[in-house]
Amino acid sequence: MNRISEQAGNVIKESIVDGGVDLQLSNGYARITAYNATTLRIRVGKNSFTTDHSFAVDNLRATVKLQVLKSEGTDKVYATDSLVVKVATHPFRVSIYNHNNQLLCADEATLGVSWYGDKVSCYKQLHSDEKFIGLGEKTGDINRRGNFYQNWNTDAPAYANNADPLYATIPFFIGVHDRLTYGIFFDNSNKSYFNFGGGADEELFHFGADDGEMNYYFFGGNTVASIINDYTNLTGRTPMPPLWSLGFQQSRWGYDNQEQLLTIAKTFREKKLPADVIVSDINYMDNYKVFTWSSKYPDVKGMLGQMKGMGFDMVTIIDPGIKVEKGYKAYEDGLAGNHFAKYPGGRPYIGHVWPGRCHFPDFTKEETRKWWGDQFKQPYIDNGVKGFWNDMNEPAAWGREFPNLIEFGEGKDKKTLYNVKNAYGLLMARSTYEGARRGLNGQRPFVLTRASYSGVQKYSAQWTGDNVSSDDHMLLGFRLLNSMGLSGIPYVGMDIGGFMGNPSPELFIRWLSLGVYSPLFRNHTCIDYNYREPWLFGEANTVKIRAILEQRYKLLPHLYSAFYQAHQTGMPINRMLPIDYTFDDNAYSNKYQNQFLFGNGLLVCPVASTQNSTEVYLPGKGNWYRFGNDKIYAGGSNYFVESPLEDLPVFIKAGGIIPMQSAVQNTKERGDGILYLHIYKGMEQNVYTYYEDDGNTYDYEKGVFYKRDIVYNPQSLLILKAKEGSFNSKFKKVKVVLHGFKQNTSKEYDLTDGEMVIQLPEYN
Ligand code: NOJ
Repeated sequence: MNRISEQAGNVIKESIVDGGVDLQLSNGYARITAYNATTLRIRVGKNSFTTDHSFAVDNLRATVKLQVLKSEGTDKVYATDSLVVKVATHPFRVSIYNHNNQLLCADEATLGVSWYGDKVSCYKQLHSDEKFIGLGEKTGDINRRGNFYQNWNTDAPAYANNADPLYATIPFFIGVHDRLTYGIFFDNSNKSYFNFGGGADEELFHFGADDGEMNYYFFGGNTVASIINDYTNLTGRTPMPPLWSLGFQQSRWGYDNQEQLLTIAKTFREKKLPADVIVSDINYMDNYKVFTWSSKYPDVKGMLGQMKGMGFDMVTIIDPGIKVEKGYKAYEDGLAGNHFAKYPGGRPYIGHVWPGRCHFPDFTKEETRKWWGDQFKQPYIDNGVKGFWNDMNEPAAWGREFPNLIEFGEGKDKKTLYNVKNAYGLLMARSTYEGARRGLNGQRPFVLTRASYSGVQKYSAQWTGDNVSSDDHMLLGFRLLNSMGLSGIPYVGMDIGGFMGNPSPELFIRWLSLGVYSPLFRNHTCIDYNYREPWLFGEANTVKIRAILEQRYKLLPHLYSAFYQAHQTGMPINRMLPIDYTFDDNAYSNKYQNQFLFGNGLLVCPVASTQNSTEVYLPGKGNWYRFGNDKIYAGGSNYFVESPLEDLPVFIKAGGIIPMQSAVQNTKERGDGILYLHIYKGMEQNVYTYYEDDGNTYDYEKGVFYKRDIVYNPQSLLILKAKEGSFNSKFKKVKVVLHGFKQNTSKEYDLTDGEMVIQLPEYN
């Protein structure tokens, strides 16, 4: 076959449609619609748009009318209140400007949208200073410029530091050039590609997929935060997580009986090591059959009751593969209900995973999602389990690749594995979340997934799969988390200590101290490696580890407030520097790219376990305070600082407000009833939104929360604005802890609901 590419061609006809414009092209069709002033959708296909589908976007209807402006020559011009779209007609090319006539992003003049067989690509102009961030869980540098990436969700055990693809597909990136920003979400679940100038002589960049439409959303907000806001407005935001899931989670593949789990829970309490969760990997099941318990767990309810008594919650793993075995309920019911993916012709597909020969649920079907979700009640929820860990959902089978022709859905909704693979993890997490939420009757489930597609944040946290016990992997892990956060998924984490390998005590301690600043804080290891419970590193190290775990619990008010921000705006919890320092080249430099902000105003500088000192970059104007010792550094400069294992380089921005609590053993403990407000003297006013709710139900959706803005006014005052919401704080008192003031005396006040104005001592 001698195939050459086809171009979209010229614009032949324009019709104004609901929310936008339809353009007939000599070789296809284009549709441009607007979702809000800064969000456009651009579709280009070979066929007209009779159907529309997305795994990520619930509301596909445009919500804003695109204004038709006067044509400029042969160009068509459309606008929203923020953006201007110029469409060249001979040939069809799209250029998007802001209202200052500054070009944000344009099709490359000679290429634009083209096809090669069914493969579709869009070529864009590359600006000389352009940087790219995003694409979720991708290895390498945070600036994606000059690199090529593929999306094809893959089981990637012990992945190399530069491996691609990994487990997830988040086809969303942000471009930064000429002090301008824009974002693109290419909503196409087939195998997709992003080439940010690599292999194209740095002249253009392009993205595309093996099949389907060129279907992308363009975000033209003028800050990275506003682009993330628009992207998550479209694909959804995290619900508030159960508070217990933010405590320390102890996991290991290989715990295999009830007594062992209880002993581990007891040991945490005896050794006064704070923790909230015991995670059970595949060994709890009867022969790895999901929705069953092995006989080594003779009294599941009793076990969960004892755990609860010790302040522990439990998470169980659930894989998608359902063992083909006569008499096994999930298999029989799944077959009877037509819930499994099939070969053409209707025979259920069989692949091998842990239990042996398995069928795989067809999560694209609503009735299958409902069926799957209903399975959680009896073996898990009724016994007290509230957390569900979805693994192997790329989907993975031994040999790794399912045949592409396997079918999902029925009739006109029928799709092949090729279209569904990248979304399978998202759909599984969705059915798990929806079913668990139904079953838990008002309580929040915790769901964790390995594979994902855009929008997974509505249902689940995500971890970075089978990492390796090395310093490089630890540092890479933070880049992964920060990139996932930028790409709409705030609840992220990695296996602390590395899944494969035996970390040195130093590496484990460093990793744990960094894990404090990761939304999911989970120690997990592979069955083939040493046990890694925190007390196994000797008494002296246990003391260090206890202090680290306590620090996490002290910071929970800050972390939970950051979650509220993520829930409201999509702003991640782990924020790579380009979010706040978009036009500072240092924010993208390889030297400082592992650094990140953890919520508002707290800067974390990851450093290898072997380094006792490190170079850090403290961005922006104004001072930074070292969290561990209050030493002051001027912003906008780099420094060599000490980085002993006991004191990770963490800095607080001047003017910073960090709410903390006393150290507790788990999230159900009340502590001393005092909210500690740490205030770092600065020259600029700062407002911090403090948030609490019951940490367990969805009542916050009905206004049962406690929220108040806390204003640091450099002139004289700390103002706690009157509380909003009908929840009562769990704290009775507030203690203002001062840093950098002439007199750093702390003072305690009764926490009242009305506005509280606190005079800071400097000015008394
Ligand atoms: C693969 C997962 O990535 C890992 O975390 C888990 O321990 C094993 N599967 C066994 O379930």
